[in-house]
Formats: sequence, structure tokens, C-alpha cells
Amino acid sequence: LPLTQDDLKKIAAYKAVDDFVESGMVVGLGTGSTAKHAVDRIGELLQQGILSNIVCIPTSTRTQEQALSLQIPLSDLDSHPVVDLTIDGADEVDPHLNLVKGRGGSLLREKLIECASRKFVVVVDESKLVKYIGGSGLAMPVEVVPFCWKFNARRLEEMFGYAGCRAQLRRKGCVCGNGGDDDAYVTDNGNYIVDLYLEREIGDLKAASEAMMRMSGVVENGMFLDMATAVIVAGSGGITVKDK
Ligand code: A5P
Repeated sequence: LPLTQDDLKKIAAYKAVDDFVESGMVVGLGTGSTAKHAVDRIGELLQQGILSNIVCIPTSTRTQEQALSLQIPLSDLDSHPVVDLTIDGADEVDPHLNLVKGRGGSLLREKLIECASRKFVVVVDESKLVKYIGGSGLAMPVEVVPFCWKFNARRLEEMFGYAGCRAQLRRKGCVCGNGGDDDAYVTDNGNYIVDLYLEREIGDLKAASEAMMRMSGVVENGMFLDMATAVIVAGSGGITVKDK
């Protein structure tokens, strides 16, 4: 039988856990349909006694619920400020291992925990590989405070006007649509997400990320630059591990 996209996600996630997670570690748990498999695997290895003495830090309430259901011991950055390893998915991976994340709705907690991690292993199926950030044509998420979100969406559009940017408020249950803000998607942190759609390359990614972070009301952006220490890609031809 040909492998489905979900099979590939699972293969990459299991490889990351089997190769990188060791007993005694503090482990960050990512969010999304790929990271979910890694959490399942950690739960399974703990249950079997193959892993022990692990403390995990979830990057979203969704992942926290999954980990709790698997009896995975949990903590947070306040108690464990140094994380040995985080395993998480990504929406885009460029040739320099820069990422887009947050299409699944979690980015602020992910960035906090992944920046505090000694190793950050990204798990993806090959469909996530792009030539440049924004190159998939899909959303580049920016978390903003609800106050004046339209004003900030306009400012973001202007900031990236040169890249043909269109900004759209994330709606509940989809990454599309127009309408009032009563059906806005609300993050774990009580904020909104403005999705940026780009027609052309941004160019200097670091400058772009810094410019967004200087805007009042922008809480975090979905570009994870120079953070991944390894990317495990599962494709129809097998598994590839890319590292720095
Ligand atoms: C969560 O909001 C995201 O950052 C995910 O890590 C990313 O969207 C990858 O998710 P999938 O594994 O579901 O594609």
C-alpha cells in the first residue's frame, strides 16, 4: 500500500523520538498533526518502561490534554527553564532550515519553549519543503492582540506590500473567510492571528521578523529563523535528516 501523508508524519515523528529522546530529559512537546505522533510515541515508550524520569513541557493546551491522557509527566518553563530537546512540526522548511509555524494556531508558546531548548528537532513530511519562506502560498501567521487588529493587519500588509502581501484574520475552524470578528480564532493566549499571504519572497527574513516585533500589538510571528538544529523529513523515497 502507498504511504499516506499521515504515515509519513508518523515515520518522521517516531524517528525523532527514537533517535533523540533519552531518559532523564526535559522534553518540549510540539503542536499539530505531526507532533501529535511524537507525543504518542513518548507516551508509549514511558508506558513500556523504555523511557523513564522524563518531564515534558507542552506548547499548547491541545498538546497538554493529549500528554495528560497518556500520563506523561508535565512541567513548564518557570520550573524547568532549560529544555534538553523539543520535537515539533512545521508548515514550511526552507533550504537554510528556517521555518514557518503556527498554521495550526500555536506559535507563541512554541517559540518560547523552542528558544529555550538546547536541541530543536523538526519533523515533517516532504510536502513542507519550500524554496523560500512564504513559498507554499499558504498562510504566514502573526499573533496580534485583539485590540485594533484591523489597524495592525493593514500595517502588516503595508510593511510587506513589496512582496504582494494580503492580510486576513484567522477564523474559527478555517484559514479563510471574511466577516465580523465574532468568529475570530482565539489563541491559547487570548490573542488573534492575522494570516499573511505573500506573492513574492520577503528577502531579508531577520529584518522582516524584527520589524514585525517592533509593531505595538504584534505578540509573535510565525517565522522561526535559525532555530531548528535538525529537520527530519519523511518522503516516499525514505527518511532524510538535515542538520546544521
Ligand atoms: C502549530 O500551530 C504549528 O506550528 C504546527 O507545528 C505546524 O502547523 C505543523 O502542523 P502539522 O504537523 O499539523 O502540519
